[in-house]
Amino acid sequence: MRRKIVAGNWKMNGTRQIAKDLAVGVSAIVEGLDRSIDVLIAPPSILLADVAGQISSNVNLAAQDVSSFDNGAFTGEVSADMLADFGCGYSIVGHSERRAMFGDTDEVVAAKVAKCLEKSIQPILCVGETLEERETGEMLNVIGRQLHTALKGLDQTRLGKVIVAYEPVWAIGTGKTATPEQTQEVHEFIRKEIAVIDEAVSDVVPVIYGGSVNAGNAKNLFAMADIDGGLVGGASLKLEEFEVICKAI
Ligand code: G3P
Repeated sequence: MRRKIVAGNWKMNGTRQIAKDLAVGVSAIVEGLDRSIDVLIAPPSILLADVAGQISSNVNLAAQDVSSFDNGAFTGEVSADMLADFGCGYSIVGHSERRAMFGDTDEVVAAKVAKCLEKSIQPILCVGETLEERETGEMLNVIGRQLHTALKGLDQTRLGKVIVAYEPVWAIGTGKTATPEQTQEVHEFIRKEIAVIDEAVSDVVPVIYGGSVNAGNAKNLFAMADIDGGLVGGASLKLEEFEVICKAI
């Protein structure tokens, strides 16, 4: 039985007070869940301390990104050691916004995955196609390339610590969610590609979906065989909606 995960990616949003209030609210949501799922929240790194100070022990702290470098002369970066120091057990890596706007190549993403695993942080590896790549039939080639570059050379133990998030770029922040069938097709492909790397791990690695997940579509998405949860952006900032999504698994 694979882990079920709902992660909230707050992106670059919030104040210290909003972060504290959301942390308290998510803790209350998790307290009230009648089944054990892993709920993670990923605040902006500058708000990690405020969130860490408010979340209950059954809520997991995640980072939105991580440096591939260790501590040192890397202005503006946040190291895996620092994230671990704040209690981050997870980090989003290779989000399409990092890839598109901040120069995260497949090779940089692979280095970040390796750094997370070196520092006992579970990477949430984001992969996904643009609308053009989907419409020109390039989707699976792109996702396969992103996946294999990021996971190349990982032994079975490390591979088993990875979480994959399929985030079609055209569904992020647009309200245009991939259908359950579209998502299932890609998740099946991802699981088969992981099996190419290591058969034994392919049925262990959670594959979650991100891209306009909301209270209205979560249940149908999470009902699909290979969708193990969600990576939620905008809706994770709205406690009532995030609660519905957490209960949809
Ligand atoms: O990482 C999750 C994010 O990319 C999805 O954002 O607002 O479409 O749920 P949103």
